[in-house]
Amino acid sequence: MSRQKILVTRSFFQDILTGLTDQFDTVIWPEKEPPPYRWVLNNIMDADGLITTLADKIDEQIITTGLQHKLQVISQIAVGFDNIAVNTATAHKLPIGHTPGVLTETTADFAWALIMASARRIVETHNEVQRHIWRAWGPEVLCGMDIYGATLGLIGFGRIGKAMARRAAGFNMKVLYYEPTRKPENEIIKNAQYATLEELLRGSDFVSLHAYLSPATTRIIGYKQLDLMKKTAFLINTARGAMIDHDALVNAVENHKIAGAALDVFGPEPIPQDHPLLKMSNVIITPHIASSTTVTRRRMAAMTVENILAGLDGKRLPYCANPEIYNEM
Ligand code: GLV
Repeated sequence: MSRQKILVTRSFFQDILTGLTDQFDTVIWPEKEPPPYRWVLNNIMDADGLITTLADKIDEQIITTGLQHKLQVISQIAVGFDNIAVNTATAHKLPIGHTPGVLTETTADFAWALIMASARRIVETHNEVQRHIWRAWGPEVLCGMDIYGATLGLIGFGRIGKAMARRAAGFNMKVLYYEPTRKPENEIIKNAQYATLEELLRGSDFVSLHAYLSPATTRIIGYKQLDLMKKTAFLINTARGAMIDHDALVNAVENHKIAGAALDVFGPEPIPQDHPLLKMSNVIITPHIASSTTVTRRRMAAMTVENILAGLDGKRLPYCANPEIYNEM
């Protein structure tokens, strides 16, 4: 019997991948940048399984082409899966794997680092020292904002949003949260209070995004929302770039409508080299690394492998993004 084939759009931890390369025929894209769309489309024709990253566009055409042949499972090494046409997959009962849970605290740590770095101007002040612009201590030199006792606004209150609220308790912060669909189980969390989006934007010193990208959260922050924020507030994004209208953000920062921003994500990535946000000293941009610690990324890789193995064996995926496919089975 011929071996099953797995298409892998990015190489990862060799010792974890070996579990697959030993057992299956694997076709692995070898570069650091994502493969061209055509490469995926051509190779999906004889693939039983597909391992993807969030940088790949896995649209209806790729999924239906795969399904016309042998495709049994897609396993993505990320918690988010907005790059995949999940509705098409679900309609055909094709399971999609993802990696929820393991990256929660790591991602919250990083979002917290962005809050701290923004408020205390860490990148800007480092640059001043490096360029010998800073010469001496002075009472008014490079003053920042206090985090302790400030108000944190969380847009999205799932696993990562709640991990942020836990961190905020240690900083004696007031926490407001907003989610497009209000969930009764969140009402009992002690140090966080539900707010409408408008109340949250008006009342927060730090607004941090922690939602899945969906029609309800796409461009959830635009001109109107930035106008509602305090002039002293910072906007933090470790979720998905498409949640922010970046032209509106440039306008808000340029016109001092908010104090600054820190973005780990952009839409589409990478941010163009000549983008105005890259020239602003009160905007920090990092390259989509909120979940990037070795321990967490290795756990994500291991879950990705568990998912693909289950899918190829016709079993229920342990970490499934569209579990509703199993309802009527
Ligand atoms: C990262 O953005 C992820 O979705 O895992």
